Amino acid sequence: METRIGKRLIIIAIDGPAASGKSTTARIVAGKLGYTYIDTGAMYRAVTLKVLRSGMLDELRRDAGLVAGLLGDTVVEFRGDRVYLDGEDVSEAIRENSVSREVSFVSSLKPVRDRLLELQQKMGAARGVVMDGRDIGTVVFPDAEIKIFLVADPHERAKRRHAELAGKVGSAATPTVEELEEEIRQRDRDDEQRTHAPLKRHPEAAVVDTSLLTIDEQVARVYDLAMNVLEG
Ligand code: CDP
Repeated sequence: METRIGKRLIIIAIDGPAASGKSTTARIVAGKLGYTYIDTGAMYRAVTLKVLRSGMLDELRRDAGLVAGLLGDTVVEFRGDRVYLDGEDVSEAIRENSVSREVSFVSSLKPVRDRLLELQQKMGAARGVVMDGRDIGTVVFPDAEIKIFLVADPHERAKRRHAELAGKVGSAATPTVEELEEEIRQRDRDDEQRTHAPLKRHPEAAVVDTSLLTIDEQVARVYDLAMNVLEG
């Protein structure tokens, strides 16, 4: 890991649709800069896991206000690379497809967003962070020095997600690429169309299309933008 470049600490906001390569890119760029990586999707996934375990999902669909009771004492935190929900390491559990299917609904609820927004702004207050999600450049840190909007072809994204899931749970338990593509497209629509903090590109965000890029290439694009700001 390199040391921090100069004294100035900045915020790098990376937004984009599902499986566009945000977290891989963000994690590596943060490592190269000696910055903290904050995966806000993992925070929404952790809250979704809590909702699923509570058995209240259907009730919440009828009365979203009920989520406030569940959120009351919820603690979501990072320790190194791991995500903790109320003290329990849920890093693997939040990646399951059952969570992916419901996370857009839970993330659309205003009390959930308000709570996580506050936490995320606290986590990034000292700057020196790379944060990825859907609304980082638009809502969480509109003053981020660097804003990136990562995109990629939906079929390519489905193939990547398929490889990722198959590596974890084996191909027999993994949905097909076509099924994943449909789920990804649906989640993108839900994230783009919701009322609160929808997925959209900030007018200043640089668009990086990762469809044909290697991980090294997409990391280099973001890292170079950061170096321009830090050295400029
Ligand atoms: O990794 P993947 O692209 O599947 O998604 P993620 O980054 O883990 O985010 C999961 C879901 O959380 C998204 O589909 C959004 O519904 C929600 N989310 C959000 O609403 N706002 C954020 N800043 C980050 C994620």
